[in-house]
Amino acid sequence: MSCSALSPQIIAVFKMTNWINFSIVLCFIVSFKCLSLIFKTHFTVNFLEPLKNLSPQRVKVRGVHAKFSLRKPALPDDDMCYIVPGKEESLGKCSFNTTAKTFLVIHGWTVSGLFESWVAKLVAALYSREKDANVIVVDWLNTAQNHYALAAQSTQKVGQEVAHFIDWIEEMTNIPLDKLHLIGYNLGAHVAGFAGSYANNKVGRITGLDPAGPDFEGVHAHQRLSPDDAVFVDVLHTFSRGSLGLSIGIEQPVGHVDIYPNGGSFQPGCNLQGALKKVANLGLLGEDPVCEHERSVHLFIDSLLNEEEASKAYRCASSDMFNRGMCLKCRKDRCNTVGYDARRIRRARSIKMFTKTRAAMPFRVHHYQLKIRFQVQTNQSETEPTITVSLYGTNGSVTNFQLDVRKGKITPNKTHSFLLVTEEDIGDLQMMKMRMEDSSRRPVSSLISTAWSWWNGDSSCSEIKAKKISIRTGETQKKGGERSVTLDLV
Ligand SMILES: *[C@@H]1O[C@H](CO)[C@@H](O)[C@H](O)[C@H]1NC(C)=O
Ligand SMILES: *[C@@H]1O[C@H](CO)[C@@H](O)[C@H](O)[C@H]1NC(C)=O
Ligand SMILES: *[C@@H]1O[C@H](CO)[C@@H](O)[C@H](O)[C@H]1NC(C)=O
Ligand SMILES: *[C@@H]1O[C@H](CO)[C@@H](O)[C@H](O)[C@H]1NC(C)=O
Repeated sequence: MSCSALSPQIIAVFKMTNWINFSIVLCFIVSFKCLSLIFKTHFTVNFLEPLKNLSPQRVKVRGVHAKFSLRKPALPDDDMCYIVPGKEESLGKCSFNTTAKTFLVIHGWTVSGLFESWVAKLVAALYSREKDANVIVVDWLNTAQNHYALAAQSTQKVGQEVAHFIDWIEEMTNIPLDKLHLIGYNLGAHVAGFAGSYANNKVGRITGLDPAGPDFEGVHAHQRLSPDDAVFVDVLHTFSRGSLGLSIGIEQPVGHVDIYPNGGSFQPGCNLQGALKKVANLGLLGEDPVCEHERSVHLFIDSLLNEEEASKAYRCASSDMFNRGMCLKCRKDRCNTVGYDARRIRRARSIKMFTKTRAAMPFRVHHYQLKIRFQVQTNQSETEPTITVSLYGTNGSVTNFQLDVRKGKITPNKTHSFLLVTEEDIGDLQMMKMRMEDSSRRPVSSLISTAWSWWNGDSSCSEIKAKKISIRTGETQKKGGERSVTLDLV
């Protein structure tokens, strides 16, 4: 059959072949540029295991810089009752619950000398998740409002005071330290790190919310937040992008698990240019580029409030590889939950993980990994296909993703992977349509022939064939695919 003899309305019914344990069932109808895959999927489950305890460090301190306000669920914004180390009666007066979880919320560097609005939001979110908890806000505003470099230097001292507080509370109440969770933002993350390292016994968990970068990037682990500071240290990096040689948030991994939402730099919904301009104009002494930096806090709040819609993050060597869809597997502890429900990973240290998010709460998106193995028949440099994909699930669909096929990137006999992200939850994936167009704008007949031969395996005029296609849903780890497009035409 000659290529040009084909009509533009090729209707084809394809039988899918089974591939490994994916039962691919159906057949379907496509128009000439369009391939649909229908599949049922199996899924795998992954469990993350706890870390071993490590030995503590012991140091004594004194000095008064920090205050400890036990906030109440009804008044998350107000400091009504301070717990004072050495004054046992303050515990009773503030109704400290000795059997409940205790959170220490530690703010960062401040220009205003006032609590930022996220503090009350985080307190409220913690109470909404853990009703009986003691949520204590560590107030070191007086020191934190200094010149940045001075405030940064003071984190060690403030951390020692927090450690002293922890030791005292432990002595008074015998609370097990695995019920103690320090949450620090910006410089507060390093305060938490110092607190953890100076406390007599190892605290259960430290969450670093975009730990401050300047003066901490690249320094020895003892001089910043590090995995040694708690049984489990998890970190969200949301503004770890250099600007004028400075990165507001620390770029290097500093915990057991370090999650970089959207690559840890650009956050959707934030006015990046505005933020950069602020840094450029005012430097670090001026205003904090709040949105992207503070996104770390809101992602954590989101994880407390929207437990059912927790974001997942995936282990990957780099943001670029993640964006190319190369890392969406959960096997062997390769994925974790973003935020409060992050799980400890045995022996893990400085594991970089990535996720995409929406621009607003709830931040979760759905990640899909699409893998295609192309067979290119003719001179490769002539093919610059545009590939668009539509996904159809049990509860909705998303259409017309354009895959990022860079010129010359279609390499024969190599499996290409792509990352697809949807905001909507389309439910279990049932069908995928893939459309491939030659972007070199040839005459239609040529296009048709390309398409025809693609299905038909007619090598006399084919250019690109998809030999093997698979898709994995990151969130469910369900996977489906199809091995070969050698199919019957009606
Ligand atoms: C203290 O916390 C425990 C949970 O750890 C809870 O069962 C108990 O009711 C709380 N006590 C008070 C007085 O709220
Ligand atoms: C492919 O095309 C380019 C220019 O279009 C040419 O230089 C090259 O020799 C061709 N390669 C083959 C293997 O035909
Ligand atoms: C399907 O989507 C609707 C709204 O579009 C939602 O209310 C419902 O819970 C979803 N069902 C499932 C199973 O996801
Ligand atoms: C790709 O694989 C096919 C069959 O396995 C082979 O015929 C073809 O030569 C290979 N192409 C390249 C460029 O290696």
